[in-house]
Amino acid sequence: MSTPYIVTISSEKGGVGKTTLATNLAIYLKALHEDLPVTLMSFDNHFSVDQMFRINRQAARGDVGDLFTGSDPDSLVETGEYGVQFIPSSNKLHILRRDLDDPSALAKAFVKSSIEGIVIIDTRPDLDIFTGSALFAADRVIVPVKDAPSMDNCRHIYDFFDSHGLSRRPLRILPCLVDGRIHYEGPFRDPYQLLKASAINRGYRCLEGYIAKSPKVESLNTNPDGKIYPILTHGRHTDVHIQMAHVARQVYLHSIEAETRRLAEYSMDTAFAEQAHKNSYEARFSALETGCMVCGTPLVGKDRTGQAGYFAQSSDQKISGYIEEECFAGLAFRYFYGAKRAVESLDPIWDLFRESAQRSYFVLQRTPHTRNFYQQKLSFYRFDEKGLEVSHKTIELQEFEKRLLSKERSDLFPLLERSLFDEQGRLGEAFLLVRKVSSDLPEEILYDQNFDGFATVMAKVSTQLP
Ligand SMILES: Nc1ncnc2c1ncn2[C@@H]1O[C@H](COP(=O)(O)OP(=O)(O)O)[C@@H](O)[C@H]1O
Ligand SMILES: [Mg+2]
Repeated sequence: MSTPYIVTISSEKGGVGKTTLATNLAIYLKALHEDLPVTLMSFDNHFSVDQMFRINRQAARGDVGDLFTGSDPDSLVETGEYGVQFIPSSNKLHILRRDLDDPSALAKAFVKSSIEGIVIIDTRPDLDIFTGSALFAADRVIVPVKDAPSMDNCRHIYDFFDSHGLSRRPLRILPCLVDGRIHYEGPFRDPYQLLKASAINRGYRCLEGYIAKSPKVESLNTNPDGKIYPILTHGRHTDVHIQMAHVARQVYLHSIEAETRRLAEYSMDTAFAEQAHKNSYEARFSALETGCMVCGTPLVGKDRTGQAGYFAQSSDQKISGYIEEECFAGLAFRYFYGAKRAVESLDPIWDLFRESAQRSYFVLQRTPHTRNFYQQKLSFYRFDEKGLEVSHKTIELQEFEKRLLSKERSDLFPLLERSLFDEQGRLGEAFLLVRKVSSDLPEEILYDQNFDGFATVMAKVSTQLP
């Protein structure tokens, strides 16, 4: 399988053995299966990973920070000691952090990479965006817990999974740095038993076993030559050696038993989401009137001859379509701004209108209590981008009386007929919301994100109309 299995080591407490677990787990996995590609990285601000694994002293091509700025993970991977690959640590994460807020960023980067096997991610004792993105992408999260306070802190990791709609399935607690010399009277014989019981009590699942506290293991960090030595090579006679091997075996077995990989699931989700976006876009597009809602000039499809300037939809969603720039501005000038003469499109007022229209939503609606055919009035509102009323004006619709229409056909008539009139030629309950679009790409307004904005203003406007 080409998608990697991602193991994230995370806890909000420092000094619980995360980095020791992450780095040694990589080595034990490699020892277990020579052919298994193992890639390690850390979002911690220490450089333990680099110290332990770097072979060549040449300047790195990049570091873990670059995963968040569009670099291909493949280009960042270095071959390290013990056959473990690693991505160098970064000292600029605190700067990058300010611009990041998408926990799927790391998953996105890895979906595109060709890294295989098992990826191990060490995190900082903080639920920041880097830890978040490592949790988001994980097939397995190991939470080292060494005492009651660190167990309490697990709640935040569980909350992260819940609040992002992620399954809690990957989460496993692992008692770490457990002091084997302590023994209790009663059912829980030692801290390990006690921690396990308290995890299970809270509904948390545990990995089998634990990692004991060992002075020998602690000493591997501090050496005259400034190196960090692995437990596998320098702590073979400790209990921790056996415990590490057991953890590594479980991780490996889970990785081959897992039916799907988190990254595969994630790319399927995004493919579904993209398809859903596409479908709703296409549904909106095919519902569009093809002609200008005022003058009828074709504005949609390959036979279009005019350019869309505005998008309009009725609040009952019965109709949606475009209006040419000049058509709508012409109506607005004549009826709502009371222009005596026809405004030429070279007139500076035109630019002024165009400019303010960028930030406006326009609403056409029957004036309340004017349902009687001969008294119909139309209200015209301008709302700002947030959906707050800026101004409004009411006009008589006398001229729509059938007798008058035959003499002088109004420009407003075809728009209202298409959008707001019922079969009897009376204004209904719905209103029409009109919004400027970019002439180069009018269908932009139909994209989910933009259309959501339009729909939000529609909803907000409808609560304010009488
Ligand atoms: N099994 C262990 N026994 C004794 N000391 C340990 C063990 N694991 C880690 N340590 C020591 O505990 C300290 C914290 O470990 P570390 O892995 O850096 O934790 P974290 O990454 O959670 O801050 C380090 O000094 C490390 O050498
Ligand atoms: Mg650490």
